[in-house]
Amino acid sequence: MAQTRIAVAARKGGVGKTSIACGLGSVLSSQGKHVLVVDLDPQSNAAYVLGTNPTAPGTADLLSGGNPAPLEASPGLYVLPGGPDLAGHNIQSLDPEDLADAVAPLDYDTLIFDCPPGVEYLERLGLVAANIALVCTDAHPLAVMGAGRVINELKLRQQKGRRGAKRWALALSRIDLRRSMDQSLNQQLAAAYPLISRLIVHQDSAIAWAGAERVPLLKYDPNCKGVRDLQAIADWVSNG
Ligand SMILES: Nc1ncnc2c1ncn2[C@@H]1O[C@H](COP(=O)(O)OP(=O)(O)OP(=O)(O)O)[C@@H](O)[C@H]1O
Ligand SMILES: [Mg+2]
Repeated sequence: MAQTRIAVAARKGGVGKTSIACGLGSVLSSQGKHVLVVDLDPQSNAAYVLGTNPTAPGTADLLSGGNPAPLEASPGLYVLPGGPDLAGHNIQSLDPEDLADAVAPLDYDTLIFDCPPGVEYLERLGLVAANIALVCTDAHPLAVMGAGRVINELKLRQQKGRRGAKRWALALSRIDLRRSMDQSLNQQLAAAYPLISRLIVHQDSAIAWAGAERVPLLKYDPNCKGVRDLQAIADWVSNG
């Protein structure tokens, strides 16, 4: 079966990209998939929250022609750590297609690219290497703006026939329907992007605690609301 490659991006910081990337990885691996989370963030949060060594050689090494060993977080779930080397000059000067080429030989059912906030050249490496993108936003206007920028980039690449994600959805993150801002986000995005699917990840303390305790979400609490939301995202990824 063809490999699924998912970029999780937002442009904005702190909206739940890493939680969604790692939580989705945990859900997909529990369904028998062999999953690799590729961390594109100099902060190296993905390896940390999955309970592995965030300073081990990872994505920067892969992009520099190395062959770093992915770290096992739980059965079927692996991670290539990010780290400060991703901000180095040699990575900044890469071609946007270089990550796509570097991951081509990796033998996993699913690759998940956890994109960083702000750093467009690193985010672009993920968007170009992916065939699917989850564009995350919470209800903050700056987050909605950041998601809009990612969607524009995806559309532009598609119009030009360039390599990269061809299918994308909005992931509405940390949603608490008791908050009026969160209540209106779904409608606001439906009006602005009527043709783009909207997938909701509710505010769930289990997601926050799993990250803080450095345990994959399914292992932390297989019955939490976050797992149900991420299972729905996994269904969208598989079936559209
Ligand atoms: N659905 C959720 N429910 C509760 N807490 C959440 C949820 N999603 C994320 N969080 C918490 O919000 C904070 C930011 O989340 P996360 O690190 O996933 O965001 P990010 O977009 O990857 O941030 P960065 O831009 O720094 O990479 C973390 O403390 C995380 O535990
Ligand atoms: Mg992150």
